[in-house]
Amino acid sequence: PKASPPAPLEDNAEVPLAENNSASDVASDAVSDPLDRDPLVTHLPEESTTTAIVLKRAQKRAKDDTQWRDGESKMSGTVYMATTEHLNMLSEVYAIYAHTNPLHADSFPSIPRMEQEIIAMARSLLDPQTTEGVCGCVTSGGTESILLACKAARDAWCHRQAPWYAGASYASPHFRAATDVPEIIVARSAHAAFWKAASWLNVRIVVLEVDPSTMRLTAAAVRRRISRRTMLVVASAPCYPHGVVDDVQAIADLCKRRGIPLHVDSCLGGFCLPLVQELRPDLVPTFDFRVPGVTSISADTHKFGMGQKGTSVLLYRSKEMRKFQYTAVTEWSGGLYISPTLPGSRNGGVVATAWASLICLGRSGLRASAEGILQARDVLVDAVSRIDGLCIMGIPAMGVVAVGTDTKAPNGGIDSLIVMDLLTARGWVLNALQKPLSFHVCFTGAHSLETARKLASDLAECAEEARRMKEKGVASDGKARVYGLGGTFPD
Ligand SMILES: Cc1ncc(COP(=O)(O)O)c(C=O)c1O
Repeated sequence: PKASPPAPLEDNAEVPLAENNSASDVASDAVSDPLDRDPLVTHLPEESTTTAIVLKRAQKRAKDDTQWRDGESKMSGTVYMATTEHLNMLSEVYAIYAHTNPLHADSFPSIPRMEQEIIAMARSLLDPQTTEGVCGCVTSGGTESILLACKAARDAWCHRQAPWYAGASYASPHFRAATDVPEIIVARSAHAAFWKAASWLNVRIVVLEVDPSTMRLTAAAVRRRISRRTMLVVASAPCYPHGVVDDVQAIADLCKRRGIPLHVDSCLGGFCLPLVQELRPDLVPTFDFRVPGVTSISADTHKFGMGQKGTSVLLYRSKEMRKFQYTAVTEWSGGLYISPTLPGSRNGGVVATAWASLICLGRSGLRASAEGILQARDVLVDAVSRIDGLCIMGIPAMGVVAVGTDTKAPNGGIDSLIVMDLLTARGWVLNALQKPLSFHVCFTGAHSLETARKLASDLAECAEEARRMKEKGVASDGKARVYGLGGTFPD
């Protein structure tokens, strides 16, 4: 549970003047902070504060955050790394590069070199046959990779649709008057970032229902809606809600025949699923560049790549496609500005952590992590299959296990959201899903087998309690819970 917001800073509160303390002076208990209550800061303090006190306050606030210990995280997803040793290594690497900005590659050549190596490492997982031409870029996270893949697809579509209009730009009124609105085809289980991309890029999103028994997007569904307006089709490997892999091969075959790009969103799975495929080929159909027709893939280094938050990789089958991602500005007075990604300035420190994490773990480290995740998955899948009234949604390909109400069970099954609320009361931080209502847990390196067993036994007890509650007429509110900031700003 989060602490309640602290009281506002009193106007006459005294903030100490800066002294030249160094970070190493911080033996936090020994430092006395005149604002020990840590009131809410409501304006830029007039006076400066010593580094020792700043660090003391930062440490104090971190205690309000959900804590995790090696193997014992009770959070679904969120923290992906297995050990505090790994985290500490990343923090040290981050400190070396915290001041760098990859926008200034000439001043900081170390960062583009790391980015090149991150892309090469991602390729060795997602392009095992080293297809001629596959290239990529490092972005700030899954959402940016998705926005960029959609932007490149939109501008490539413009180029295809209007060869008569040199340099066709989607923003041009002449172009807009002469062409249709392009469409992205997604499954309802695709990540929300595609809806964000459609709204920012001003294109239409066509949402297809997944197969209700497998929870996968099928080629048959795509075939019904694909048209000359389609700028991009999206498949997930795996999708965030149910952890299943869409029918990438059949969808790719269709897209290839129609000349339409296919993006595989492997933001969640990119650094885990290829290893799961090696260990359990029965669970994971081929979803990467080995499948002709897959034109781009996103994979997050800040998830199962176990770097600190702030990086992802976007790979394209060809440089020809990637070129549509660039923005070139020639009209302003600041000189020719060519930007490959969304931000201008970026933090090179997080790039260095992604690089360090992959080098440190190597394929064997990722494989060991995938093995542990699969064991945890099996424990939970087995536990749910023993509970009458709950069901697993589809066949989880990795460590994301979605639990729903088995509506075919006697009495309409157990209300899965009540089960989730009961588990929340026991300290588990799970993710609620909708359409249909259900919840999931995403096992990561931060969960041991022991933790998975504890969750499985808590789940069995909570399901029993939910069954009794149902008999007494208690039902959940039937409303989906919120993922993300839920439309609120912190101010
Ligand atoms: C399948 C999938 N795609 C995209 C994203 C978005 O990633 P990010 O939160 O890094 O922007 C997520 C996040 O969980 C995801 O699971």
